[in-house]
Amino acid sequence: MRILLLGGTTEASQMATCFAANDMDVVFSYAGRTTAPIAQPLPTRIGGFGGVDGLATYLKSQKITHVVDATHPFAAGMSRNAHAACTNAAVPLIRLERPAWQVGIGDNWTLLPDIEAIPRALPDAPSRIFLAIGKQQIGLFATQPQHHYLLRLVDQPAAALPLTDTKVVVARGPFDVAGDAALMRDHQITHVVAKNSGGQGAQAKLEAARMLGLPVLMAQRPVLPGDSIASTADEVMGWLGHEADRGV
Ligand SMILES: NC(=O)c1ccc[n+]([C@@H]2O[C@H](COP(=O)([O-])OP(=O)(O)OC[C@H]3O[C@@H](n4cnc5c(N)ncnc54)[C@H](OP(=O)(O)O)[C@@H]3O)[C@@H](O)[C@H]2O)c1
Repeated sequence: MRILLLGGTTEASQMATCFAANDMDVVFSYAGRTTAPIAQPLPTRIGGFGGVDGLATYLKSQKITHVVDATHPFAAGMSRNAHAACTNAAVPLIRLERPAWQVGIGDNWTLLPDIEAIPRALPDAPSRIFLAIGKQQIGLFATQPQHHYLLRLVDQPAAALPLTDTKVVVARGPFDVAGDAALMRDHQITHVVAKNSGGQGAQAKLEAARMLGLPVLMAQRPVLPGDSIASTADEVMGWLGHEADRGV
């Protein structure tokens, strides 16, 4: 058994720890989006495969027998490519996916089908927006230049931002509720924009928004192909037919 683990999430790192603790033959794969990716206890490759065909070639050349897709729920391109390449190459694939966040009592969420729908759902009046969506899609908000945008990014931006009125905070999660509430208060935030990523590390902003009575505009997840879905590393180990020594 030789596994390809597609990473870039906390769950992928937990899965890597579990695989390493069980002495399994696994290659960890990063897209290469951040300048200092978290080191993994597994052989690691960085960079795209070159689409579906590139990934199919990689699976064959590396004699990969199983693929675990632990990419972010919004990394739809990679998940769709993995599904297509694994189907073509007859390599079993499972997606390790954290459950989506659920709206709770006291929340003021507006659910939008995707991130593209959010800019036009913002108010017309100049507002102060905590844009907690990473860096890749902030350009969508250039159509609403009347707002001030607070951006929290993993790396300092290397190039000019597509938004004019911004404040960048460089930080890597996990975040806590007290810290996120203080951040929102200090920046006089009026609205929070988020993607329904799920997981613990980024949930604090939602609890902070609830505490402060702030509205949240929440993008729903893309629909992804594939029937094998696990929500824990143990479930993946079961799917692989392996008893887990979790190593954590
Ligand atoms: N999207 C988010 O909100 C988000 C948030 C946190 C972390 N991440 C992580 O950041 C990475 C990129 O996310 P994205 O939204 O840009 O992905 P994406 O749009 O689904 O992927 C675009 C391309 O990036 C390459 N790629 C993505 N993940 C890869 C991986 N783990 N290993 C090797 N190549 C990978 C693939 O290139 P080729 O076609 O050349 O193979 C893929 O087609 C993912 O690993 C994801 O887990 C994403």
